[in-house]
Amino acid sequence: MQENMAKTFSMSLLLLCLLLHFFLAKCTRPPLAPALYVFGDSLVDSGNNNLLPTNEKVNFKPYGIDFPEGPTGRFTNGRTSVDFLAQFLGLPFAPPYMGLSVAQISNITIGINYASGSAGILRETGTASGMNLALEVQVELFNETVNHYLPKNFKTKDELLQYLSNSIFVVLIGSNDYINNYLRPAQYNSSHLYNPEKFAGVLLKEFKQHLQDLYNMGARKFLVFNIAPVGCTPAMVKLKNVTSGCSNDINQMVSLYNKGFTGMLQELRTSLHGSTFVQGDLNLLSNYFLSQNPSVNGFITANPCCNTNNETSLCLKDVPPCTDRGTHIFWDGYHPTQTLDLLLAISCFYGPLPCTPINVLQLAQKQEDTASQKDYFSS
Ligand SMILES: *[C@@H]1O[C@H](CO)[C@@H](O)[C@H](O)[C@H]1NC(C)=O
Ligand SMILES: *[C@@H]1O[C@H](CO)[C@@H](O)[C@H](O)[C@H]1NC(C)=O
Ligand SMILES: *[C@@H]1O[C@H](CO)[C@@H](O)[C@H](O)[C@H]1NC(C)=O
Ligand SMILES: *[C@@H]1O[C@H](CO)[C@@H](O)[C@H](O)[C@H]1NC(C)=O
Ligand SMILES: *[C@@H]1O[C@H](CO)[C@@H](O)[C@H](O)[C@H]1NC(C)=O
Repeated sequence: MQENMAKTFSMSLLLLCLLLHFFLAKCTRPPLAPALYVFGDSLVDSGNNNLLPTNEKVNFKPYGIDFPEGPTGRFTNGRTSVDFLAQFLGLPFAPPYMGLSVAQISNITIGINYASGSAGILRETGTASGMNLALEVQVELFNETVNHYLPKNFKTKDELLQYLSNSIFVVLIGSNDYINNYLRPAQYNSSHLYNPEKFAGVLLKEFKQHLQDLYNMGARKFLVFNIAPVGCTPAMVKLKNVTSGCSNDINQMVSLYNKGFTGMLQELRTSLHGSTFVQGDLNLLSNYFLSQNPSVNGFITANPCCNTNNETSLCLKDVPPCTDRGTHIFWDGYHPTQTLDLLLAISCFYGPLPCTPINVLQLAQKQEDTASQKDYFSS
């Protein structure tokens, strides 16, 4: 009974996606928000790591096989969830910061993507594979954008503040603090220093500070994601020699973070006047699709679509991937296919789950008063 309902639900969701997708591509209308700023890791990186000295880059085939421009540095076969969100908002894709010239940065008001594969909340996360833009660095780069580049595009400070308060800020980060830090005791010291509960607390404290920084720079409308059950990714299932299902050890560790995450956002809502924080729950959607029997939900398999490198779990270069990409959850050992990205984006945009207490459409339509910003900037 429940299974049938779940099946019907997911099938109609998929159908709805395709219909909306079709219409959104056809019709042009004024954007629902002036800009989309993106902070995070490989789940939303749109090409920043191409230009960084790191092994964590994917500017080769078969990445991008379903993306019009081919391999762009997106860690999936097609579009990421923030690409879809940009489309739903009526905006172009936020360009990767690292690829922009000074002239271009000076000119861009539709948003910028600062996300970086392997990056985490902590600075050292992911650095064993090379350089990345840690969350703190991404926030610093945005600070520079606000102080040095954006003002050229506005007549008055008030106009800039109005613009910032109506822009959408998406932050999706944290899984690398486990995958590329805590769960690699040979390379990182965090698991020697903290038990899982303390570590979650360290991450949340740091994360909270950076969200507060963004608020202080003028951001008001936030969509912030918690961490997906990374114990279900093919790479982690393999690492832990799990024969079926997920690594519950890893998922339990991450759930400590997710429990604290909800409270952290609530504290920010209370303390930051005029802010709106939408929580994106990656567990809800992922749990649903990664249930013991993925075929129930219309997805055939939880195996990666491409042939992955044993070490990095990224796709092997130039090896053709599976052809039935619409029915795969995972593209490589860590990252979802664009099919799941679309489902996440569409559910989050139109709600009611997994983005709460309001969906992204409501977030974009919410009227902002800029009084809270004037207080801050005049003090
Ligand atoms: C800035 O954008 C405008 C219109 O989008 C364009 O005409 C102009 O050449 C751009 N300037 C630079 C320096 O990129
Ligand atoms: C942002 O930039 C301003 C001006 O350069 C500086 O005073 C401030 O400390 C910066 N904030 C953060 C969080 O980096
Ligand atoms: C843990 O490692 C980081 C970076 O690798 C380093 O900055 C930090 O000092 C280390 N902490 C301790 C207590 O060894
Ligand atoms: C998984 O299996 C490999 C080889 O079979 C072994 O070396 C490794 O220690 C195992 N890992 C765990 C977490 O049990
Ligand atoms: C990857 O691992 C599999 C099974 O453990 C092995 O058969 C294969 O040769 C390995 N491939 C590479 C490129 O190391």
